[in-house]
Amino acid sequence: TYVVTENCIQCKYTDCAEVCPVECFHEGPNFLVIDPVECIDCAACVPECPADAIFADDEVPPDQRDFTAINAELARDWPVILRKKAALPDAETWNGKGDKRPLLRR
Ligand code: SF4
Ligand code: F3S
Repeated sequence: TYVVTENCIQCKYTDCAEVCPVECFHEGPNFLVIDPVECIDCAACVPECPADAIFADDEVPPDQRDFTAINAELARDWPVILRKKAALPDAETWNGKGDKRPLLRR
């Protein structure tokens, strides 16, 4: 499966949801997650993310590995998103900032 990591938080560009051929992406207030049960490992979403936040589960950077479980957990709670929508208002400001985990809203 593929995993959305920290740099999506407070950006939520949603380009990923538009290109996914299945219904993987689930939307929360300031983050998207991938449902590991639905993902078919096509990798189409990876180059679409302006925040470079999506990785194959075996290539998630060491400091981001907790996001594998976070994606699986929140995909069960959040609704599916199928189309691109406007990014969060300050997405460009937040893109690349570190330590965004405390800002993740559930
Ligand atoms: Fe969807 Fe493919 Fe990305 Fe999995 S890898 S979330 S199937 S676009
Ligand atoms: Fe997030 Fe990138 Fe998708 S910022 S919403 S994973 S396009």
